[in-house]
Amino acid sequence: MSSLPSDILAAIEDIVQQVGLGRVRAAAAQLGRLYAQGKAPREFTHEMVAAYAAMRLPGTFAAMTSVMQAWKDHVAPQRALRVLDVFAGPATFVLAARAVGLEIAEAVCVERSCAMRQLGEELLRSARIPTRVAWRNEELTEFLERGGPSFDLVVASYGLGEIPAPWRQRELASELWRCAQGHFLCVEPGTPAGSELVQSIRTMLVEQGGTVVVPCPHNGRCAYATAHRGWCHFNVRVGRTHLTRVIDGAEASFEDEKYCFVAASREKVAWRQDGRIVGHPRLSQAGMQLVVCLPNGEVKYVTVPKREKHLYRIARKLRWGDSLPPELHLWLRGECGGE
Ligand SMILES: C[S@@+](CC[C@H](N)C(=O)[O-])C[C@H]1O[C@@H](n2cnc3c(N)ncnc32)[C@H](O)[C@@H]1O
Repeated sequence: MSSLPSDILAAIEDIVQQVGLGRVRAAAAQLGRLYAQGKAPREFTHEMVAAYAAMRLPGTFAAMTSVMQAWKDHVAPQRALRVLDVFAGPATFVLAARAVGLEIAEAVCVERSCAMRQLGEELLRSARIPTRVAWRNEELTEFLERGGPSFDLVVASYGLGEIPAPWRQRELASELWRCAQGHFLCVEPGTPAGSELVQSIRTMLVEQGGTVVVPCPHNGRCAYATAHRGWCHFNVRVGRTHLTRVIDGAEASFEDEKYCFVAASREKVAWRQDGRIVGHPRLSQAGMQLVVCLPNGEVKYVTVPKREKHLYRIARKLRWGDSLPPELHLWLRGECGGE
């Protein structure tokens, strides 16, 4: 179960207290209504950013942390990175990078809302995060128009989908890819619309010479989206804090944050990829049922039988989003007639 680090949680509690619980509650309800309609506020008030920190940040932080962990496991960067984080919000990426121990030389955070930038500054200060962060408090288009240096990693999380025109979302993604001398990473909500956007960005990245790093173990067409008519997404369970329950009045002790993502690289590295678990592993009478995306581009529904004791033990530990362990990949190649 994911949760925000205690220093960040304490800072958010302070912020909510300063703004006033009643006002944060009203802003949280307003934000919730907007997000449920697939919209986003044009201008964040201080009440809204406090509500965002208490109600949305635990989920976006959890998704970012899972994504950054997967990315770091595959790329294993050898030096501190220079990162461009657009739609930065309260510096969610920088907070997640600390959580997974990713070394950042400098993060340039582009965020148009003053209130959101101030929240980010406050959280970074309270948590004593030493990362050098340069805020660009402006519209992303203004930032991109000025051109400028390229970055080891460009991150766009929970932002492109908020751009109203779909053609502009794709155009912006392409401009951001141009700013990436190494890697580009995009995260969106785990909805059909979020997945469609991530799929189209993935296609653009491959067409423009990128190699998909995570989550897909291949650069080909997505079988999940085509043959299986599903939307490829992942899930992380997020613990609900006392503060969250006080604000929205719901009693549940956790919620599921569903997300879609893609990361591509300009580097022609042969990533070791054995496949990925793309659904909840399920225990049945016959064994562990897995949905696996394979390096040959296929999505397979497989059951690891109980009689395969060693493999079954490995399969029991797998979670949605995990890489397929090499032993299981080898076994699958034998079972399914190779790739
Ligand atoms: C949903 S929040 C995501 C924040 C953060 N990336 C996260 O994952 O928690 C989107 C942020 O992007 C900012 N934003 C939206 N459109 C923007 C634009 N055109 N230029 C700069 N910032 C923008 C909003 O102000 C908001 O803070």
